[in-house]
Amino acid sequence: MSPIPGLHTVGLLGGGVIGGGWAARFLLNGVDVKMYDPDPEAPRKVGEVMANARRAMTKLYQPALPPEGTLTFVDSPEEAATDVQFVQESAPERMELKQMLLRRASAVAPADVVFGSSTSGLLPSMMQEGMTHPERLVVGHPFNPVYLMPLVEICGGALTSQATKDRAFDVYTAIGMRPLHLDVEIDGFVADRRMEALWREALWMINDGVATAQQIDDAIRFGPGLRWSFMGTLLIYRIAGGEAGMRHFMAQFGPSLQWPWSKLTDVPELTDELLDTLVGQSDAQAAGVGLRELEALRDDCLISVMKGLRGVGYGAGEVLEQFERQLFSRAVQPDVTHDLDQPLRLYEVTVPDEWVDYNGHMNDSRFFQVTSEAGDRIMRFIGVDDEYLTHSSYYTVESHMNFGAQAMAGDRLYATVQLLSHDTKRLHHFTSIHRADDDAVVATAEHLMLHVDTVAGKSSPASAELLANLDRLAAHHSQLPKPAHAGRFVGQPRA
Ligand SMILES: NC(=O)c1ccc[n+]([C@@H]2O[C@H](COP(=O)([O-])OP(=O)(O)OC[C@H]3O[C@@H](n4cnc5c(N)ncnc54)[C@H](O)[C@@H]3O)[C@@H](O)[C@H]2O)c1
Repeated sequence: MSPIPGLHTVGLLGGGVIGGGWAARFLLNGVDVKMYDPDPEAPRKVGEVMANARRAMTKLYQPALPPEGTLTFVDSPEEAATDVQFVQESAPERMELKQMLLRRASAVAPADVVFGSSTSGLLPSMMQEGMTHPERLVVGHPFNPVYLMPLVEICGGALTSQATKDRAFDVYTAIGMRPLHLDVEIDGFVADRRMEALWREALWMINDGVATAQQIDDAIRFGPGLRWSFMGTLLIYRIAGGEAGMRHFMAQFGPSLQWPWSKLTDVPELTDELLDTLVGQSDAQAAGVGLRELEALRDDCLISVMKGLRGVGYGAGEVLEQFERQLFSRAVQPDVTHDLDQPLRLYEVTVPDEWVDYNGHMNDSRFFQVTSEAGDRIMRFIGVDDEYLTHSSYYTVESHMNFGAQAMAGDRLYATVQLLSHDTKRLHHFTSIHRADDDAVVATAEHLMLHVDTVAGKSSPASAELLANLDRLAAHHSQLPKPAHAGRFVGQPRA
């Protein structure tokens, strides 16, 4: 059951590099996928993308992802568009092929099912031709790997309705992306026009023997590429203009636009000689490292950049932070029924590589992180929502942890929480962290939290609603045996 309201199943047309990436992003967000791709190898290829994506997405997000959706391969575009709430087309970049797929699929999908096309540069006004309800087509141009890159450019055609653009925006946001609405329908949209300029100049430099593939990449990855990843071009140039900003920058560098610094108006002839040089230099650059290995390296680097930016709360880091809030809210859903006669199972996580120390074991601080996540979820469980957090919260004032066993990278852990006691201001609970494989308890933690008026900056009574929810839970949890480690002092001999 998808955790995203109104988005249970999506239809995907095409399951190559991009379609496979979409499948991974939807499935790992708990949405079922129906995929149409005539290539008999497609299930294998999508399976390989999924393996990479599972690894990468569990590394990227702190909160646990929902249970994975189900992938079904179907035999026609019509089947892929039946009983789905959204369709994404990622077939080869050929206008007639895309038009044919969209025509067939739209003939069976109800009028409110929006179609996104992954095209890198074909115009939506042309793709709409022949569709049933053409107003529900929009370009949703993603970037590879779709399961990690936040950007998706939304561009409507002449007939596209505003409701379609809004729906596409909501769908992409719900799976952790950063949609960018484009005002003007233009070949190549915005990002590819910019990338094409760089690519064209790179080809010229290889063609003219100015620089090798390696030099061209080094000139970006150790320099401007780092800046682009968070501020883009224009804001960085404003800063480069010093106190006088963009006006000074233009005075200084405007004249060079007339000098021969680039050959962007033309493209080198793609002769066999140029292709051989390009491919040879690219092979030398890869130095025998295979595709899946390069993909994993790329994914790890992207994850590091985005996690680093999360710490600053800027650019792609802001998107990550906001999406983690969504995941967090979805993790404790009001309609999920818990057995109140047991400690509440509220949080699950797979131990990422970077949580492991030089001994190969999960670091102490990460155990604390897991129990803190569980603490957040008990707050959500008793009714602390985003609105409540604008004025009040619970702060942890005392904690005690016990370590029983090691956890290793890749171990699946879950945390259960037992309410020990509460009053109007205090919440005293006990977390057990279990290994999912054998349910063994690897650590326990006891916490005392204090209800705080965050605006006034002092302790305060919780709301009547929260207290009623706590009373209801306490009626059950007070019947549970007191956990063996509850109330221990540091150094107390173990039984
Ligand atoms: N590769 C990129 O970096 C990238 C980035 C953004 C957007 N795109 C766009 O995404 C789309 C797909 O590109 P890709 O890189 O995934 O290509 P790809 O060649 O990897 O995948 C295309 C897939 O479509 C399948 N296919 C062929 N005929 C089909 C049909 N009649 N119906 C359904 N599927 C069919 C193929 O079997 C293949 O699996 C293109 O429009 C491309 O411009 C690509």
